[in-house]
Formats: sequence, structure tokens, C-alpha cells
Amino acid sequence: LREHEEFTKVKNIATIELGRYEIETWYFSPFPSEYNDCLKLFFCEFCLNFMKRKEQLQRHMKKCDLKHPPGDEIYRSGTLSMFEVDGKKNKVYGQNLCYLAKLFLDHKTLYYDVDLFLFYVLCECDERGCHMVGYFSKEKHSEESYNLACILTLPPYQRKGYGKFLIAFSYELSKKEGKVGTPERPLSDLGLLSYRGYWTRVLLDILKKHKGNISIKELSDMTAIKAEDILTTLQSLELIQYRKGQHVICADPKVLDRHLKAAGRGGLDVDVSKLIWTPYK
Ligand code: ACO
Ligand code: ZN
Repeated sequence: LREHEEFTKVKNIATIELGRYEIETWYFSPFPSEYNDCLKLFFCEFCLNFMKRKEQLQRHMKKCDLKHPPGDEIYRSGTLSMFEVDGKKNKVYGQNLCYLAKLFLDHKTLYYDVDLFLFYVLCECDERGCHMVGYFSKEKHSEESYNLACILTLPPYQRKGYGKFLIAFSYELSKKEGKVGTPERPLSDLGLLSYRGYWTRVLLDILKKHKGNISIKELSDMTAIKAEDILTTLQSLELIQYRKGQHVICADPKVLDRHLKAAGRGGLDVDVSKLIWTPYK
């Protein structure tokens, strides 16, 4: 049965149109059965409703009055804006976003229960409206201290630093909540690369400033990164020794500099002074 299921889950939709982009999809996504015969889907870039034919989309665009994701704009810096969408208040939008995202996410189960999630949708804005670049979802209440469930940068926007921006943003929210957070597992290869890159840069910067004189607990308090993630990152950089039952961080400035150079670009920074947000209650 399993094999059969896997076999039938072949990629259905091959391309999508979204805003000014035509995008090739990566994986299967469980769109409602009436879309089974479609190779291409046309999305409204604002409400994320999807249609089978271009003419339907054109008709839709004449009457769709959204110019940005529904919900609250909680961050604006230059042309970059972040919107917080409550899956309970905007159920259809949340479901549409999940269908869309699954086209680029391999192993994630799709949540029909969008009620339980908040969606943070990152946009580049111009005179035509706010164009979605990527998003992450977050459980309203997580038992496992997850601060991010799924993350996606749409393919036309990938490798420009938006992924690291989204990750940084998720930790800024955790800091405001006064909690540590970690992404839901499993991570995809690209997800792991992006997280490793983010963790490495953030931790190395602090180690450099404090000349290594700092504990994992203190690092965790400062960054909202979960202690385990700090430990695995520092271990992978070979900056940790285990002495007399204790983890010791060794931080030779030369070694730190070498790692920092290898860690690549810092990416787009989150300007915390432009984040206007209070935790969900
Ligand atoms: N090849 C090699 N390295 C890569 C690649 C790639 N194609 N893409 C990203 N990276 C690495 C690089 O180290 C990069 O940093 P650098 O450019 O400074 O070298 C780093 O990841 C982050 O790059 P960004 O430009 O900040 O990230 P991007 O906007 O491309 O988004 C993301 C990363 C969200 C993982 C994107 O690749 C994506 O949406 N993938 C499909 C969906 C997915 O796999 N999501 C994660 C699932 S796990 C989860 O949701 C909890
Ligand atoms: Zn629309």
C-alpha cells in the first residue's frame, strides 16, 4: 500500500503562474481532485486563489481587491514588508498558501488545520502592490518550542538572502516572546544549509565580540537559538570540547575569522526597530 501511495504521488502540476513569474514546480501537492488533470495553474498573487485557465485569472484580477496578503503588516523597511496572517481568520488564504508551498516542499505534510498557524508572508512592494517573496508558518502554541513550521522562498527569489531574513525574523519573534525556538524537523537539504549558515554567522559574531568567554546558556539567551542547535553548530565547526563533563567553547580569534570568512554573505538584516508586534495570546 505504501509503495502504491508513493507511486501515485507523482508531481501533478508542472508549472504555476504567479504575478509576473512562471515557475516550474518541484514536488507533488495535493490540490483538490478537480485540478488533477491540470499541468499548469494560475494563481492570483494577492489572495492566492488558483484557477485552471488564464482567462479565469484575468477576470479574477479585475474584481480581486487585495493588493497585499490579508492580515496585519507588522514590519516595513524600504520596499520590504512582512504581513502576519492568522489561519483562523483567513482560512482560505492559509490553505491556498499551503497548496502553493507544498509544490516546493518535499517531506512536509500539508496542514489542513490552518487555524492553528500564523503565516508570516514577506513581500517586495511597489506601486502595483505587495508581491510575495516567501513565507514561514508558525504554530500559535508549540509544545516542542518550534518557532517555525515551514519556510519557503519562491524560486525566482531564492539565493538572494530572503531565506536567512525569514529565519532571522522567526528568531526576532521568539526574542519578543522571551522564548527559545527551533525549526520543526525534518529540515530539507536547503533548509539545513540555510539554518546552518544563519546559526554559524550569529554565533561566530558573538563569540568574536566576547572572545569566547561565554556559555551555551548565555548564547541561547541572547539569540533565542535552542541550546541543542548551538551545540551542534559549534560542534560542526569544531569549536567545542568536552572536558570533565562540561562543554567548553574554544574561540581562537584566528579560527573564528577563518570560519566567518567561510560562512559567506550575511544577507538582509532584520531591523528590529521596524518590527511592530506583540506575541499571540
Ligand atoms: N545551493 C547551495 N546552497 C544554497 C542553495 C543552493 N541552491 N540555496 C541556499 N543555499 C544556502 C547557502 O549557504 C545560502 O547562503 P549564501 O547564499 O550566503 O551562500 C543559504 O543557504 C541561504 O540562502 P538564502 O538566499 O538566504 O536563502 P533562500 O532565500 O534561497 O531560501 C530556502 C532558502 C527557504 C531553504 C529555499 O531554498 C527554499 O524555499 N527551498 C524549498 C523549500 C524548503 O526546502 N524549505 C525548507 C524546508 S525545512 C522547514 O520548512 C522547517
Ligand atoms: Zn485574488
